[in-house]
Amino acid sequence: MPISTFLTAGLLALQVHALPGRDNPALMRRACPDYTTYASTPHAPYSSGPLHLPYQRPTEACRTFSSASVEKVIEDVTSRLVDPDLAQLFRNTYPNTLDTTIRWHVNGTSTSASARRNNKRDTSDWSGLQTFIVTGDINAEWLRDSTNQLMNYQLLAPNDTGLYNLILGAIRTQAEFVIRSPFCEAFQAPSVSGIAPENNTEIDTVHPAYDKSFVYECKYELDSLAHFLKLGRTFWENTGSTEFLTDRWFKALQTVLKVIDAESQPTFNSNNLFVENEYTFQRLTTLGTETLTLTGEGNPLNSGTGLIRSAFRPSDDATIFGYFIPPNAMMSVELQRIAKVLEAFGGHDDLASELQERGEKLAAAVKEHGIVTNGKYGQVYAYEVDGYGSRTIMDDANVPSLLSLPYLGFLNQTDEIYQNTRKMITDKMGNPYYLEGPAFHGIGGPHIGLSNAWPMSLLIQAQTSDNDTEIMECINLVRNSSLLGLIHESINVTNVKDYTRPWFSWANSVFGQTVLKVASEKPYLIFGEGAEPYNVS
Ligand SMILES: *[C@@H]1O[C@H](CO)[C@@H](O)[C@H](O)[C@H]1NC(C)=O
Ligand SMILES: *[C@@H]1O[C@H](CO)[C@@H](O)[C@H](O)[C@H]1NC(C)=O
Ligand SMILES: *[C@@H]1O[C@H](CO)[C@@H](O)[C@H](O)[C@H]1NC(C)=O
Ligand SMILES: *[C@@H]1O[C@H](CO)[C@@H](O)[C@H](O)[C@H]1NC(C)=O
Ligand SMILES: *[C@@H]1O[C@H](CO)[C@@H](O)[C@H](O)[C@H]1NC(C)=O
Ligand SMILES: *[C@@H]1O[C@H](CO)[C@@H](O)[C@H](O)[C@H]1NC(C)=O
Ligand SMILES: *[C@@H]1O[C@H](CO)[C@@H](O)[C@H](O)[C@H]1NC(C)=O
Repeated sequence: MPISTFLTAGLLALQVHALPGRDNPALMRRACPDYTTYASTPHAPYSSGPLHLPYQRPTEACRTFSSASVEKVIEDVTSRLVDPDLAQLFRNTYPNTLDTTIRWHVNGTSTSASARRNNKRDTSDWSGLQTFIVTGDINAEWLRDSTNQLMNYQLLAPNDTGLYNLILGAIRTQAEFVIRSPFCEAFQAPSVSGIAPENNTEIDTVHPAYDKSFVYECKYELDSLAHFLKLGRTFWENTGSTEFLTDRWFKALQTVLKVIDAESQPTFNSNNLFVENEYTFQRLTTLGTETLTLTGEGNPLNSGTGLIRSAFRPSDDATIFGYFIPPNAMMSVELQRIAKVLEAFGGHDDLASELQERGEKLAAAVKEHGIVTNGKYGQVYAYEVDGYGSRTIMDDANVPSLLSLPYLGFLNQTDEIYQNTRKMITDKMGNPYYLEGPAFHGIGGPHIGLSNAWPMSLLIQAQTSDNDTEIMECINLVRNSSLLGLIHESINVTNVKDYTRPWFSWANSVFGQTVLKVASEKPYLIFGEGAEPYNVS
């Protein structure tokens, strides 16, 4: 579709995007429609299924990155999918990260020393490959989202130099973020990109202090750091490459370990005196979930649990009890898997065994303190605990969640305590944030409120089930509620046309991942009876 079609479609909001892979900056600019606006209205051609889902990919000239191997996967999968509506959703969502969110990418070693120095306050090393990936409708990069946004392309990286460099650049950019502001979860474009920092108008008082031209928001979420480790770990698993293990990456790893140690400190010291946490956060707000109690400290946490505190959840809502179980489970997995990477790399035996030991101890702590007895469901995992016996029984759609424990690699989905937990959190009577209505149902969370369930929870439910009926019900419910051809953040349970976030790249990525998992493991469900499995690699 030519750009003029967009213009005549009545879209007034235009935004100039920088496109990668061009030498002449003047040629890098095109007038492309703002994708939030573009994604909010349907575009032809429509699918031939009953839902008539629109085609929502930007025109080629407006895509932020292109890859022939990604186009091949789209062709391979959509040509085999029996359901044309599902095919249209895959066509739009699988490439969405590349199409719309690669805001800045340096492919090669061209970032000059002078560019590196163009902002005196920025001591980061922006040399070599770099990739800055926005979450979607907010012009900033979340560590968690960007790792997940790239996950589908990891499988293609071994044979696609463009994707290999894109992901390697993303690991390097994340490492710089972690080194300088390890307590923060969302970042501005690197100063050398020339992209102006996004204006975050919230009034926050945060320790340690951070630079607003470097950080978009500074909520300390343990899973952000686990996602930094996961990005490198999955790159190694897919490509066999240890090229990301630079001095800067090791510095970022040491920074992660320092945060873990600081956030393993209880609220009271061995003399029973209160000690302020290294991280505190207060926001001027009317929303209880957007700030921390006790002048930015959060509720008291007991000593001796072996758990790591997280001030916020992956929804960016405050934790009620800082010993938040899902990211502790995720971190225990990532520490042990990074230990394997370092063993394969060689020369870091002490560090590898330290990480292995930290990971094993953390996994044991998760089981010791995270498993609680529930009168109705038996032994289950709690969402959060405080080490005094208090616990939060619930689940939230955002990953890491309790539902996602097998997806994170923490346990097998056949695990009995997981199955009890799963029954509880997918039951209206067991999980206050299991939301259902006549039009939609699933796990939601406090972030959007009590009328909206999140498609991401249904996709994770499908990915952690072996039950064919459940898998297809989840996928089809998401399909039925994605009437703009993309996966939204949340859907009003009374009306699927009422949704939040037209452009949420992470959710699109999880949809692509879900379809590919079914294509590989249960091809008959989506390709028709007797179909051969389809594997990306
Ligand atoms: C990035 O660089 C590699 C190696 O020089 C090249 O093969 C690849 O095509 C480049 N990718 C892009 C998107 O320019
Ligand atoms: C950022 O937002 C504040 C508050 O709305 C406003 O005063 C300021 O001018 C904005 N800055 C930029 C660069 O847009
Ligand atoms: C989970 O456990 C089942 C039964 O013991 C086993 O067949 C399956 O391979 C395990 N899955 C994983 C991912 O380990
Ligand atoms: C499979 O899932 C369906 C739909 O959720 C449910 O009705 C059925 O009982 C499940 N089957 C088994 C064996 O759990
Ligand atoms: C999706 O919508 C179709 C009608 O278009 C309906 O037959 C089907 O039951 C719905 N599936 C789910 C899981 O809601
Ligand atoms: C959800 O939809 C209902 C009915 O359409 C509406 O009354 C309600 O305000 C909506 N909730 C939200 C949070 O938008
Ligand atoms: C990469 O290419 C090799 C050799 O052509 C092939 O065997 C392998 O399956 C390819 N892997 C992927 C992920 O496409």
